[in-house]
Amino acid sequence: MEILKRLQLPAHLKPRPTDEANLRFGDIYSDHMFLMDYFAGQWRNPRIEPFGPLTLSPAAMVLHYSQTIFEGLKCYRRPDGRLALFRPRDNFARLNRSAERMSIPLLDEAFLLQALKELLKIDGQWTPSHPGSALYIRPFVFATEPHLGVRPSKEYLCLIITGPVGPYYKEGFAPIKIYVESYYSRSAPGGLGEVKAGASYASSLLATEKAAQKGYTQLLWLDSVQHRYIEEVGSMNMFFVIDGKIVTSPLTSGTILPGLTRASVLTVAAHLGLPAEERPLEIEELIAAQKSGRLSEAFGSGTAAVISPVGLLHYQEKDYVVADGQVGRITQTLYDELVSIQYGFKTDPYGWVELLD
Ligand code: COI
Repeated sequence: MEILKRLQLPAHLKPRPTDEANLRFGDIYSDHMFLMDYFAGQWRNPRIEPFGPLTLSPAAMVLHYSQTIFEGLKCYRRPDGRLALFRPRDNFARLNRSAERMSIPLLDEAFLLQALKELLKIDGQWTPSHPGSALYIRPFVFATEPHLGVRPSKEYLCLIITGPVGPYYKEGFAPIKIYVESYYSRSAPGGLGEVKAGASYASSLLATEKAAQKGYTQLLWLDSVQHRYIEEVGSMNMFFVIDGKIVTSPLTSGTILPGLTRASVLTVAAHLGLPAEERPLEIEELIAAQKSGRLSEAFGSGTAAVISPVGLLHYQEKDYVVADGQVGRITQTLYDELVSIQYGFKTDPYGWVELLD
């Protein structure tokens, strides 16, 4: 399919942010966006247009029944000025897994990558170069058919928007405080936890707000059946260093998002000879490990969050400090290694980086 292009008039191009050191997450958008429609049983009309508002029927099914999915990936500016995507094919593969779970028609992954590359030929110059910043890329798909009966929509819109971002958390690469949630649940077995459905994020807002009011940056979700096993932090997968070994929850329950940064951390750890294991971890075991001094570090991983050290866990009315509230050695090592590959300070031995022309 040919991608039609309607470019913004030069006089209407937006000024790019000049203060790259203070970029926040998710406030600024580049000049163009990619769009593609689905109707009459086929994806059609791929196009790149100026970034701007959409027209939608008030009866569009997404507004009523939340049939929407998304992805998040980043484009990095390297020291030689070239741009690089990190594991983009894995993001589009996961988008299709989300589509399948949410009864959304599958997309051509190779075509989406081509569309993204064409979009970046136009807007790639929005990629900032300040350390820790990147161009965030948000592909998403939602149901547009005007219809109020509950069934899968017959019409959809697929978009890719981009924008320069800084750190996801206001703390930057500094330890965050996490509230362990023992009442609300993020995902039940058989639910949406292992895909990127907008509905999962909406359902986490109330609990996250309550924790934020108490001064905690994020929630650590426990399993929804017993509130016993550690799952993830909505915007990140979680890792703990216990007895010198990196531990993360396995993906077998289907309630945890298979994070690409999570997978990258496990691969990098193996490469660096850092012992790591995927195993069920009970919150009580974690707290006991903290009390006995065996829990030395905790950190989260995500595309937006990169690797975020955790300096404090709050569980059942008590605060538990981790790594003296500092960035732990293993957390720093993994962060340095991953970021060096993403930004091209080190060669990528894993085949994750996709350089743009
Ligand atoms: C990402 O890390 O890219 C995500 O999609 C998580 C989102 C909460 C920002």
